[in-house]
Amino acid sequence: MADLLGQLESLAMGAREASASAADERALEELRVRFLGKKGELSAVLRGMGALPAGERPRVGEVANRVRDQVEALLAARKASLAGAALEAELSGPALDVTLPGRHLAPRGGRHPVTQVREAIVGVFQRLGYEVTDGPEIELDWYNFEALNIPADHPARDMQDTFYVDEATLGPGEQKGDVVLRTHTSPVQIRAMLRAGKPPIRVICPGRVYRSDYDMTHSPMFHQVEGLCVDEGITFADLKGTLAAFARAFFGPGTRTRFRPSYFPFVEPGAEVDVSCTICGGTGKKDGKRCGTCKETGWLEVLGAGMVHPRLLANVGYDPARHTGFAFGMGVERMAMLRFGIDDLRLFFENDLRFLEQF
Ligand code: DAH
Repeated sequence: MADLLGQLESLAMGAREASASAADERALEELRVRFLGKKGELSAVLRGMGALPAGERPRVGEVANRVRDQVEALLAARKASLAGAALEAELSGPALDVTLPGRHLAPRGGRHPVTQVREAIVGVFQRLGYEVTDGPEIELDWYNFEALNIPADHPARDMQDTFYVDEATLGPGEQKGDVVLRTHTSPVQIRAMLRAGKPPIRVICPGRVYRSDYDMTHSPMFHQVEGLCVDEGITFADLKGTLAAFARAFFGPGTRTRFRPSYFPFVEPGAEVDVSCTICGGTGKKDGKRCGTCKETGWLEVLGAGMVHPRLLANVGYDPARHTGFAFGMGVERMAMLRFGIDDLRLFFENDLRFLEQF
């Protein structure tokens, strides 16, 4: 019996030393197996009990139970102290650097410069009380030309090299020449007036338009914004005030406007509107040299405008004797070129990120 008790005592001592020097949880688990496992040291001692006289067994069993409890307590205590030390080390170690920049998931996208400028233009008119509206890009000849006082044989049609919709794609009852990709946003004037039924009407209509053109300042697809205001007593002074306010809001508070007589079949009188050059401030000179942007004139042409032709009002069933209105139309790409100082319109449509990332 003394032999077995001695073995138990040295087992307990061995466990104490081993657990004190165990470095981590895995080492502790190995110790548990070594001392308390089925094939471990305690089991080996207990197997020796079979050889003892029955009277001595309870005493050895009692000591063996106490030793198991001790070893379990030792391992648990060591585990707790290891965890405490790890936490301590983390807390007293180098602090987490919260100023380290995070990782970007992907490059951030942005709005296309043409979209930005379209929204800026539309935004100014919305603040003036205009409502946004639109019309189809595949348009009937009647809205695009006829109702706008541009009859089939009118020379003004030559100014707009039109894409006609192929015969094969026409609907029932439509003939060659009846359906076009709209060449301007002006047909939305007609649609908006018909939709409203009667004045007052104040709408701003952004959208895509198409012409058979391609060079530094023309692309077969581009964007326009059309404006229309019809009510009782609307005069040319309202048109001037509105566009002058727009020019100041869009190009800057010091911007001046100039109206030159011009001809568009759907307005009378019609005008081309210039703003003081955004590059040289209207002086025509930049750093003592000729300003290339306005070609030294100090003015930039930005849009067409005029008083709605009485024939348009009649075409949509309005009474031209009672109602008057003004309309204007501008090219979004042109405004973007002036705002950002870009000289080739085609850049907008090449989708080159080195260009697009600059906005
Ligand atoms: N639709 C014309 C064009 O594309 C621009 C224009 C001129 C629109 C005068 C208007 C206007 O509303 O009054 O060239």
